[in-house]
Order: sequence, then structure tokens, then C-alpha cells
Amino acid sequence: MSSWNKDNWRRFTALQQPEYSDQTALSDTERQLALMPPLVFAEEAKQLRRQLAAAAEGKAFLLQGGDCAETFADFTTNGIRDLFKVLMQMAVVLTYGGRKPVIKVGRIAGQFAKPRSAASESQNDVDLPSFRGDIINGVTFDADSRKADPQRMMQAYHQSTATLNLLRAFAQGGLADLHQVNAWNLDFVTGNDACKQYQEMSDHICDALAFMEVCGVNVETTPVLRETAFYTSHEALLLNYEEALTREDSFSGKWYDCSAHMLWIGERTRQLDGAHVEFLRGVENPVGVKISNAISADELVRLIAALNPENDAGRLTLINRMGADNTAEYLPALAKRISEEGLKVVWSCDPMHGNTIKAANGYKTRSFNSISKEIEQFFQVLPTYGQHPGGLHLEMTGAHVTECVGGAYHVSEDDLASCYKSQCDPRLNAQQVLELSFMVAKLMKG
Ligand code: PEP
Ligand code: CO
Repeated sequence: MSSWNKDNWRRFTALQQPEYSDQTALSDTERQLALMPPLVFAEEAKQLRRQLAAAAEGKAFLLQGGDCAETFADFTTNGIRDLFKVLMQMAVVLTYGGRKPVIKVGRIAGQFAKPRSAASESQNDVDLPSFRGDIINGVTFDADSRKADPQRMMQAYHQSTATLNLLRAFAQGGLADLHQVNAWNLDFVTGNDACKQYQEMSDHICDALAFMEVCGVNVETTPVLRETAFYTSHEALLLNYEEALTREDSFSGKWYDCSAHMLWIGERTRQLDGAHVEFLRGVENPVGVKISNAISADELVRLIAALNPENDAGRLTLINRMGADNTAEYLPALAKRISEEGLKVVWSCDPMHGNTIKAANGYKTRSFNSISKEIEQFFQVLPTYGQHPGGLHLEMTGAHVTECVGGAYHVSEDDLASCYKSQCDPRLNAQQVLELSFMVAKLMKG
């Protein structure tokens, strides 16, 4: 591989990028952004890499989740708090039931840019550029709003900064205290079986904490009871933004994309000779790559060689998103080959993106059953080939939405309209993810 520079990607083909009509305004914004403080510190990204190395070895589990796309309109303190709480709930269920430390990574504080299946959208004979996420253009269907505006990168940066600031406060300021295990339950998550299981589990945890307290183990002697590490991640899609936030670590002289701790490449932009692979191969952050059943074992091995030439455990997470109908058929060949080649990766299951369907009433949705089925297959296939099911990647929210069908509350296609808020893909709600967590905890334990 040739030498790397943070702007080398510009000489490669970059798919899924906006067309900025005003190049001067674009470079002004890029310069402005490059002067802004980094969102994360290189040392934090290194720490996450070390934790992910444990997940690659089957000794930890990655929990990654959040909105399909963050938006400027729906940016609220409660929204961030509720996502944080529900991720904490899931993490405690997985840790307790699955008996493994859980690495918490939000799809948040930068998850704005979206790949689209078509470059333009037409309504009543009017043709306009597709909505590509609030960091690029606006969702409203008019020419002005659909125009790519570089200033939106500044707004996304500032929103990400404020979001991360609150997350850090939650993680270290007491909301992550294990004694809060009951307080993480959201008001509307009551009455079903998963909720009862959660109550029982939190009673056991509180008992154990009380016992440990008597033995002299408390928040003063053992700070991990009181705080947690919470990391951020997003799809590194808009490379102008990512480049501007890429900085040289003064300790190691290495490059880090300081827009988030972890970045991933989407299924649509993972071409071996493409700009996204070129860009991400040069930053030291832990990186992910989404893979569907469209990838062959040969292509996967070449992709891994490009992104993780030193075969360092923790550097690369394969985010598998084949769909419930494809996983059992296509995952074995990939897992087998990775084993034969001795490649070290974290296998994470995204059971969302291969299971998107259109309901009869036109809503984009996903069924809880397909999601569960894909996860089960993932847990079944990998150990057969000596690989560890190491993580879960979900589009989810702490808000009371009806976007995915099924689950204990039996959200039906008719219910979708009652609380469908996503501008993009359908998310699991807090009830659905809690239910899923108990199922995954069981699978983790084997
Ligand atoms: C996403 O994670 O929102 C996404 C677009 O995923 P994929 O690249 O797997 O389609
Ligand atoms: Co999505």
C-alpha cells in the first residue's frame, strides 16, 4: 500500500457524495471546521481498540446502537438521555445474563449523513436531489432545501459537540452508577415480561451491591460501579467532514479521525478502490465495515488486508447485515475463510439493514421476528467455524415510537402510523430492545 495522506481520498472515486455548487463556500467551511477542537481524544480511541480486541477474542461484547440518522429538528436533552438509559439497560442485561463485559458505543454525535439508493427523487413530475441527511441538505421537498449546503457541516459539528458533552456528563456524573439500575427503566416500558425480568434482575443486582458494600466494596473504593466508558460512532460517509476533523496525535504522530471514537464504512461505499476505504485505512481509530451477502470471501479478505494489514485484533469490526433469509446461507463461507486465514476481527450483527420491508400501508418497517431470526443464525453459524459472535449493531431509540412491527407489545402494521418519527430507517423502541437483550444474553451464554 502506498503512503497515506488525509486528503488522498480526493483522487479516488467517492460514491454517495453531495454535489456542492459553491466550491469556495465548501473550502471555507472545511477550513473553519479544521480549526475547531476535536470531538474525541486519540487516547480514547486507543482504549476502545483495546476493548474491541477482547471482543475479537470472545472476551467482551460490543453493543452499538442509536438512530438511523440524527436530525437537527429532533435534537433534545430527553432524547439523548433516554437513548443513554436504554443502552445502559441493555448493557446490564447483556453483562449479567451473558457474563461478559459490554462495550457501549452509540450511533450518535455525528450520525447524520445517509447513503441513498437513488440520487434524485421525483414527486408530481418534479425531480430534486435525494435527501442525504441533515449534515448535507434538508428533508423538505423543495429545491432550496434539497440543495447541498456546506454550512450544515458546522451545525452538525456543534450539535455533535453538545451531544457528546451531555453523554460524557451522564457516563461520569452519576447516571451510569450501577445503583441506578432501576432508574434506567423508562416510564412507558412497563407491564410486559421483559420488564418483569428486568425488575427481578435489578433486585438481584441491588442485593449484590448491598452485600459488596458491607464487604467494603463501594463507589469510593471501586469507581467502575459509578461510571462507565461510553463511546461514539457514525458512518464515515461525508469525507469532507471526516478529513477536516482528522488530526495528528501529538504523542504517537499517528492520524486519528477525531469526529468520533469509531467510524464505519457502509455497504454501498466499501469498494476496494474507492475513496472511503482509502480514507479509513489511514486513520488509527477502530473501524467497522458493513457487509451483506453480496460480498465474496475473496473480496472480504482483500478488504481486511486493506483496512487491517497488521491483523491487529480490535482494529476492524465486520458488521454483518445479510438479512434473516440469507445469513445461514452466506455467512458460513465467510466465517470459514476468516478462520482459515487466521484473521482477527470483531463479528457484529446488524439485524436491521437486511430486513427492511415495505408495509401494505407504505411504511418502511422491519419485523421483530426477522430481526431475532437473523441474530439467532449469527450466533449459530460463527462458533461452528471457530469465530466469536462479538457484537450487536442496532437502529434504536429510547423514544416511544412504533416503527418496527412485532415484539411483546405486538406493534402491528396498522399501529405504525400512530408514532412513526424516523426520517430514514425504522428503529426498535425501548420495549423491543429490552426484549431482544434478554434473548441475546441467553445466546451469549450458549
Ligand atoms: C446504516 O447503518 O444506516 C446504513 C445505511 O447501513 P448499510 O450501509 O448497512 O446499508
Ligand atoms: Co439505516
